[in-house]
Amino acid sequence: MSTPHNNAEKGDIAKTVLLPGDPLRAKFIAENFLENPVQFNSVRNILGFTGGYQGVKVSVMATGMGIPSIGIYSYELIHFYDVKNLIRIGSCGALQPELKLGDIVMAQGACTDSNYASQYNLPGTYSAIADFDLLIKAKEAADRHGYRYAVGNVSCTDVFYREDNPDKAWAKMGVLASEMESYALYCNAAAGKARALSMFTVSDSLVTGEAMSAYDRQTSFTNMMTVALETAVAAE
Ligand code: HPA
Repeated sequence: MSTPHNNAEKGDIAKTVLLPGDPLRAKFIAENFLENPVQFNSVRNILGFTGGYQGVKVSVMATGMGIPSIGIYSYELIHFYDVKNLIRIGSCGALQPELKLGDIVMAQGACTDSNYASQYNLPGTYSAIADFDLLIKAKEAADRHGYRYAVGNVSCTDVFYREDNPDKAWAKMGVLASEMESYALYCNAAAGKARALSMFTVSDSLVTGEAMSAYDRQTSFTNMMTVALETAVAAE
């Protein structure tokens, strides 16, 4: 059984999937971190692979950028492929001055300017939150390695290039960083009885305007991968 966006058969995809935005990032992770990776999807170049990590079956699949894109892929993983643990690995723009480039941000919650949750016909505003157990496991992994990280709210926005600047307003509410996918991922996981967690490497600071060098990107990305993979193993 395949979907309009995924030509994997049921069983090709592990119970736990790591979700980078970029397809070539998914390929890089499969080739450099997983044992015996097998590709299961190439539709629209949204590459997906399943392999092993410390004896556990783990998949990695790209989501593309933004809420509509991750909304489609995460819904299909949950409802058509029985995926139980969805761990997003991405980059974010820091909204708080104490966050340094390369720090890991774990999204305990996601705020949004998107109307994604209107589909649930709720009588109020839905607070999209991470799975507590995955979050604790990620925190423990980061602590074990002594990585710098912060846990808190993120702002999941539909708009990257924009006319206004909402950064100060979100920052005032203690929101750590800006990104573009977690709200939909957390909604889909909640509605589909799956577990989700987003973690990010701070790639740029919306406070200072600084952005990462290519070298720093690679090093800090490796730290986040270690946290994500150890979370996947602990989630088994
Ligand atoms: N905004 C939204 N998403 C992002 C950013 C940003 O500044 N940086 C990395 N992902």
